[in-house]
Amino acid sequence: MPLTATPILPRFGAECSGLDLTKPLSPEEVKQVTDAMDKWGICVFRDTGMTNEQHVEFSRNFGYLERVPKREGQRMRLPCRELFDASNLNVDGEITQDKAAIQYRKGDRLWHTDSAFLEKRTSYSLLLAHQVPSKGGETWFADTRSAYEDLSEEMKAFLEDKIGINSLWWSRKMAGADIPDEEIETRFLAKHPLVHVHKGSGRKALFIAAHTMDIEGMEKEKGRELIRELIAHCTQPQYTFSVTWHPGDLVIWDNLCSMHRGGDFDFEHQKRDMRRTTVREGTEPHMMETGDDPYTELFSSSPKVVDIQGARADGR
Ligand code: OGA
Ligand code: MN
Repeated sequence: MPLTATPILPRFGAECSGLDLTKPLSPEEVKQVTDAMDKWGICVFRDTGMTNEQHVEFSRNFGYLERVPKREGQRMRLPCRELFDASNLNVDGEITQDKAAIQYRKGDRLWHTDSAFLEKRTSYSLLLAHQVPSKGGETWFADTRSAYEDLSEEMKAFLEDKIGINSLWWSRKMAGADIPDEEIETRFLAKHPLVHVHKGSGRKALFIAAHTMDIEGMEKEKGRELIRELIAHCTQPQYTFSVTWHPGDLVIWDNLCSMHRGGDFDFEHQKRDMRRTTVREGTEPHMMETGDDPYTELFSSSPKVVDIQGARADGR
């Protein structure tokens, strides 16, 4: 059966069905998925029945999968480094009581794109629900192509060659962590154009996120105000929707034409077990690498405030 996509908003997001994602996909089926992604930006597949292995295998159709940083002596909850732990659980599968981990994860509640703080951006993120709270814990998505298209011509012209400066630590600071600007500026900064052409669709998109700290060549306060304004513009109701999860649901989002954020839930009492694979922009399907991802280096030099046992180590 071919893939069927039912739009969620007129220009953004689709509920998809018709493919069995637990089985290896034919090249034609993979293309159906990438075509739907290019058009809709977010694809929601319900009740997939996928295991960890099937999740990873399916994800490899879209490129190289980023890997969780290696930390000496740290046990991992999940069986392979291609699975990022987006849960509120510790390595033993219990709700984490670690104040630092809880604080660190508050960053997920800000509008962001995954890995915008790395030099090589993330294209697709594929998040699979394993266990969900009885209430809340939805994920929100925002359409950065339509939001760009609806800007005034004057604003589009102003943004055309502007470069955003992105930092993992900036988003942590925005979420309440106490890190001085001077310290952030000594850490790794990634530069990405604020506007780019989304390859799969040829449409232009804004590329801004909680990680975007400054705009190159703009006075800091003015740049930061503009970043706040653009995020507020993109996250207006006409550009956003939320997904309510059930175990087995898989959502693929294209970070290069969307932003996302986690919704609230009773973090301290309800388990939410979500696992994510993350595809690196511009890489080939089934590409494998040995050695470490830039994450490992980034986190080995991370300020103490976020260098915590069991914390989700990818800055979402
Ligand atoms: C992520 C993320 C939000 C959520 O996995 O990258 O931001 O709702 N998740 O779990
Ligand atoms: Mn994220």
